Amino acid sequence: MKINTITGRNYQIGEEEKLTTLAKKYGVKLNKRNVDTYSDAGLEGWWGENGCHKPLHEMNPIRGGFVMDVLKKFEISPDQPIIEIGCGGGIFSEYIARLGYNILGVDISMESINVAKEHAFITHVKVDYQVGSVYELPFENESFDIVMSSDFLEHIEDLVTAISEMSRILKKGGLFIFDTIARNESSTTTFMKLEAEGVIPAGTHEPLLFIKPEELESVANQFGIDFAKDINNIYGFVLKSIQFIDGKFKLVEIQEKETLPHYIGYGIKK
Ligand SMILES: C[S@@+](CC[C@H](N)C(=O)[O-])C[C@H]1O[C@@H](n2cnc3c(N)ncnc32)[C@H](O)[C@@H]1O
Repeated sequence: MKINTITGRNYQIGEEEKLTTLAKKYGVKLNKRNVDTYSDAGLEGWWGENGCHKPLHEMNPIRGGFVMDVLKKFEISPDQPIIEIGCGGGIFSEYIARLGYNILGVDISMESINVAKEHAFITHVKVDYQVGSVYELPFENESFDIVMSSDFLEHIEDLVTAISEMSRILKKGGLFIFDTIARNESSTTTFMKLEAEGVIPAGTHEPLLFIKPEELESVANQFGIDFAKDINNIYGFVLKSIQFIDGKFKLVEIQEKETLPHYIGYGIKK
């Protein structure tokens, strides 16, 4: 096995070639630095009724429901500081803010942060936004009770630095809540097809950046975050999967590891 300590992903021999060949079959442009595809979306792309990021809106009740369950379970009060890293145009941050929580959204793209601010201004929702990179977060150690990353880590090349920074700004006993895409042939086919069919914008995903749950858990452990345990779960942490079934997103129980598409879970900082 080839251990890649820079990115936190441990590609098996031949895996990179296999996934790249599979992805190219769908004729979708592969792009490891896919931040531009988000910056260019504008207000219409992020928030328009038929904007290119509509699927993220459709996922909100599912991922938001999961986050609410976790916040309630840990009796997080509305004034405790929450941060979403990689918030883009604010689709998820604003959703959590509407539920009454104190949230700050951070994104590397000034264009997307401007869209997020503009939308919150129009809708009068109280939510803060700031430009910043996950690789160098402009916050003191242990500043937040909750660090969230939703549909973000699968766009990050250096997973180790990203998690190290997110853990650094998380208080002891605080929660890291995430969802991301699992790396396997099945998820590669699923996401490349969705891009080829125009359900999600072409060029937004690079399957080599997808993350196996055990890789994410291993990097999180390295930086003092323990994933929540669930005795019935093969991964050893609470994990469900967001899947696109019959034109709708649904939260379903975990599947076979090899066919897991998108997963959601949380961990606690020691
Ligand atoms: C799929 S979007 C997710 C948006 C939002 N989390 C949601 O689900 O609605 C991924 C976001 O990650 C941001 N991003 C990429 N690299 C980043 C970095 N190094 N630091 C912070 N944000 C980054 C992109 O600009 C983009 O807005």
